[in-house]
Amino acid sequence: MPVTTQQLIQWKQQGRAIVALTAWDYAIAQILDAAGVDLILVGDSMAVVLGYETTLPITLEEMLHHAQAVRRGVKRALVVVDLPFLTYQESVQQAMHSAGRVLKETGAQAVKLEGGHPAMLETVARLVQAGIPVMGHVGLTPQSVHQIGLRKQGKTQEQGERIFNEAIALEQAGVFSIVLEHIPAELALQITDKLSIPTIGIGAGPDCDGQVLVTSDLLGLTEKQPPFAKVYTNLRETITKAVEDYAVEVRDRQFPQNENPT
Ligand code: KIV
Repeated sequence: MPVTTQQLIQWKQQGRAIVALTAWDYAIAQILDAAGVDLILVGDSMAVVLGYETTLPITLEEMLHHAQAVRRGVKRALVVVDLPFLTYQESVQQAMHSAGRVLKETGAQAVKLEGGHPAMLETVARLVQAGIPVMGHVGLTPQSVHQIGLRKQGKTQEQGERIFNEAIALEQAGVFSIVLEHIPAELALQITDKLSIPTIGIGAGPDCDGQVLVTSDLLGLTEKQPPFAKVYTNLRETITKAVEDYAVEVRDRQFPQNENPT
C-alpha cells in the first residue's frame, strides 16, 4: 500500500518510527523504495550532486527534472519535494505556482518548505487549503545559510523557544509533518511530545517520530559529512577501487575478455 500523509500521522500515534531518506535520481529512489523506506525526500541538498556550494542556486526546473526521475522509481514511499530558495518566499501566489507545478508535473505527493515565521505560516495555510500537502522544516534551515550558517540551532533559551513556537504554529497552519534539523535532542523531544503530527529529525536526537539522512552521506559518497550523519558504508572508496581496477585492466588489455562478449 502506498504511504500517505495520514499514514505517517497514524504511525506517530502507534509509536512506529518513520524511515526517511533523500533521493535525487531514479536508481537510488528505486533501491530505497524497494528497501522499505517510508518517505523519500527530493531535497535541495541535491546541490551536492550538482556541484553547488549551497542549496541557494538550485532552480525549480532542476528540482522538477530530478523529482520526475525519483517518482518514476517509487511504488510505495511518500515522495516529498523541496521548494527551492526564492520559489515560494516572495508571495503566496509564487508558492502556489511552484508547489502546483511540483504536484502536477512530477506526481510527488507533497512539498517541503523552510521556516515558520508569520509570512510562511500564511503561505502554508493557503497551500493546504488548496489541497497541497506541506511538510515544514525548522531549526537549521540551509536556505538561510548566509544568516545563520550551518551551525546547530536552538542552543539558547530564546532560540529554542522560537523554534518550539514555530513548530506549533506550523502544525496549526496545517503541515502534515515537520523536519527538525540540527537542534538539541531535548528541544526535539519537547516539540515531538507537543505536536500531533510526526517530527522527522536530522541531527535532532533519537526522540523524533522518524529520522532522515541525506543518502549520499549514509553511503559515504559525499566528500565531507555533517557531524550528525552516520556513514553506513564507504561507496566513495568502493567506486574509486572499481574504477582504478577497470583502468588497470583496460591499459593491460585484460578487459574485455571472453566472458564479456561483444
Ligand atoms: O535538502 C534536504 O536533503 C533536506 C534534508 C536535510 C532534511 O532538507
